[in-house]
Amino acid sequence: MTRPASERPKEVQELAGEGRLITLTVDKPAHGGTFVARHEGRVVFVRGACPGETVVAEVLPDSKANARFWRAETIDVIEAGPDRVPSAWPECGYEGLGGADYAHIRIEAQRRIKTEVLQELMTRARIGTYPIENIQIEPARDDHTGLGWRSRVRFAVDHGKVGMHGWRSHEIHAVGSNPLAHPAIQALGIDVWKAPSGVVAVDVVAPSGSAPAIIVRSENDLTLDDLNLPAACDNASIVLATRTSTTALRGDDSVREIVGDDVFTLYAGGFWQVHVDAPRLLTAAVGHALDAHEGERIWDLYGGAGLFSVLAARAVGGTGALVSVEGAERASADATENLAAYPQAKAVTADVRDFLAEANEGPDRVIMDPPRAGVGEKAMARLAELTRERMVYVSCEPSTLARDLRVAEHEGWAITDFQVFDLYPHTHHMECVVKLERAAR
Ligand SMILES: C[S@@+](CC[C@H](N)C(=O)[O-])C[C@H]1O[C@@H](n2cnc3c(N)ncnc32)[C@H](O)[C@@H]1O
Repeated sequence: MTRPASERPKEVQELAGEGRLITLTVDKPAHGGTFVARHEGRVVFVRGACPGETVVAEVLPDSKANARFWRAETIDVIEAGPDRVPSAWPECGYEGLGGADYAHIRIEAQRRIKTEVLQELMTRARIGTYPIENIQIEPARDDHTGLGWRSRVRFAVDHGKVGMHGWRSHEIHAVGSNPLAHPAIQALGIDVWKAPSGVVAVDVVAPSGSAPAIIVRSENDLTLDDLNLPAACDNASIVLATRTSTTALRGDDSVREIVGDDVFTLYAGGFWQVHVDAPRLLTAAVGHALDAHEGERIWDLYGGAGLFSVLAARAVGGTGALVSVEGAERASADATENLAAYPQAKAVTADVRDFLAEANEGPDRVIMDPPRAGVGEKAMARLAELTRERMVYVSCEPSTLARDLRVAEHEGWAITDFQVFDLYPHTHHMECVVKLERAAR
């Protein structure tokens, strides 16, 4: 890994000439996949490093001389730390893809680092009702390598070239081995396809209960012949999604997902938990934390196609009521279908904030699984006021989770369980399931 300065590529030597190469001693992890180091007193967030290492890094061009902090990317490792391993996805290294910022770190160490980042975020948010040191990330079932877990992959396309975006860049790079993707996605060979003009992105889905699906996002109408996809895609459903329409060019535009005894049908390009084990793991964790009873009233906010709604509808039985609230029309329609066997359940298409603003009466229990932006302070305060007994917060972004939990604590709620799962191995992301109950007064 270490190269004498004279052997570095010419472009890198030029960076040194411009004063953009710095030597850093790497300290603790920062949120977002980088690590903290200091250069002449200034904080530098460096990617591609490990705690305890000494590295040579390129300061990114957008790091201005007078900025409070800089961003940098590791070029060479002068002294490697004990957690460094050959990258699981070499294309994510220096000047490469942005998708897997921890691929060069031992999987157990990745989990230790994520735990540290999460605990630090919760400490900084002054979370006070739960022992933060007890929060520990857990792997998904049988996930020893962190490879082959992604059942959904988005490829970017530029002038026919299929790839993925670089770190903090719009440039599209070749994907290479793509080892995080489910083998059924890797087998399709989309990364070497030359896309026709108009195609801007491709989503590839490996569902648990139906054939793979390819959603081609295009600025203009295209036929199956125009697409000229690799032969390996012959058994996949092909969906063309333009700004105005969605057309199944082959097969169906829906996929099936199987979770225990439940079968979910949803739009192929719609939201579904990405790790192959996530639906099982999260429904178990949410069901346990929710602990709903016959006859109760439950809201499943940001409900998607109804993954958590089904378990909640079953738990409250025929005398209870379940309302799933989802902003995307198609996902909400899918939830209606997936809940068809439960007359006590209803799927509402609405923005959660509008739904909360109009609600006169709160539920007994609520599940919320927002996108990365989180629930937001105002909506969280409203939920804390409306909900009678228990809230279960599912989050893929710990910084907004920390903010929202602080609001709940301020409104008189206590965190009574906090689980974290490593559902995005080799990336800095994680998934949290937090149980909140009204604090004893
Ligand atoms: C993280 S996904 C969770 C979906 C579902 N709980 C699941 O596990 O499959 C978040 C969902 O919230 C929806 N969403 C995002 N912002 C929303 C809003 N302001 N109001 C309602 N739904 C929203 C998205 O369309 C998406 O389906």
